[in-house]
Amino acid sequence: MTVPARMRAVVQSAFGGPETLVLTETDVPEPGPGEVLVRVAGAGVNPGDAVLRSGRVPELVTLPWTPGNDVSGTVERLGAGVTRFAPGDAVYGLLALARRGAYAEFTAVPADALAPAPRTLDLVHAGAVPLVAFTAWQALAVLAEVRPGDRVLVHAAAGGVGHVAVQLAKERGAYVIGTARAAHHPYLRDLGADELVDHTVTDFRAAVAPVDTVLDLVGGAYGPRSLDVLRPGGLLVGAAIDPGTDGRRAAERGLRYVWVSARPSGAALERITERVDTGRLRITVQRVHPLAEAPAAHRAIEERRTRGKLVLAPAVD
Ligand SMILES: NC(=O)c1ccc[n+]([C@@H]2O[C@H](COP(=O)([O-])OP(=O)(O)OC[C@H]3O[C@@H](n4cnc5c(N)ncnc54)[C@H](OP(=O)(O)O)[C@@H]3O)[C@@H](O)[C@H]2O)c1
Repeated sequence: MTVPARMRAVVQSAFGGPETLVLTETDVPEPGPGEVLVRVAGAGVNPGDAVLRSGRVPELVTLPWTPGNDVSGTVERLGAGVTRFAPGDAVYGLLALARRGAYAEFTAVPADALAPAPRTLDLVHAGAVPLVAFTAWQALAVLAEVRPGDRVLVHAAAGGVGHVAVQLAKERGAYVIGTARAAHHPYLRDLGADELVDHTVTDFRAAVAPVDTVLDLVGGAYGPRSLDVLRPGGLLVGAAIDPGTDGRRAAERGLRYVWVSARPSGAALERITERVDTGRLRITVQRVHPLAEAPAAHRAIEERRTRGKLVLAPAVD
């Protein structure tokens, strides 16, 4: 397929609600040195995209911009010096926070942020994977170093990061407890959760015996409450923009706190690819939206009730 000069892209010119995400026509970007031009198959929608869109952290966005860090698609053109990929390769990866631009038909991506896409996953769905997989991996394998027999509590277990975290913690031999509404419990048991708390009717502090690690994907009041369920020396890994606590408050109680930060890397993504292709990691995509539905996808992500992931797909109408 030839690459056109112009493409459809979601562009935001002023901070605000989901309606400020407008599908428009722009130039197809040129891949710079070390970059490849990707024809986008899927762009994962993340809560962080909605935070940036809202203007809560204006210093991180230069308007006008095209959101989207998670990307999957097909390599179309190579920038100078790229030898790892060839046109036609199916790839996926995470654009650095300063880059974005995946809510579009094409995007230019540093080659070292990409890996070959999983063979067993629909290429559109592969766009859902990178950020949540990096976050769950960084939290549980790198920061918490979860070991067999550890007790791990995952908040928002049914969400994008949570459903991956449940599976990674289980693979490492942990006893996995999740918070989720009851409708999500059979789904989470199927992914490997051992124990579930319906947060809409039960305070998890009353239901959960002490744990070694909490991955808090909710934040706010959940931060200090999560410290209450840690065993002495236990670790709280925060992820939300408002984690509700910090290292000093944890240390005062003989506990540890750290904030997880997902780092893009094609090499690290290959570990995830291997897990997907061997069936050890299952990815849930609740819905695939066309680019024109970016506002609807942002409304859904802000309601915080999705199971797994939402993806924008330029080829879907
Ligand atoms: N630091 C980083 O690098 C990083 C990276 C990625 C994400 N994050 C942050 O991590 C958080 C989770 O991201 P995500 O993509 O996984 O979110 P998400 O997919 O939008 O989360 C949706 C899920 O949240 C659950 N939920 C909502 N309120 C809850 C509550 N009070 N208790 C338990 N579960 C609740 C819902 O489950 P129910 O319907 O069952 O309630 C739903 O399944 C966000 O704050 C995001 O910004 C941080």
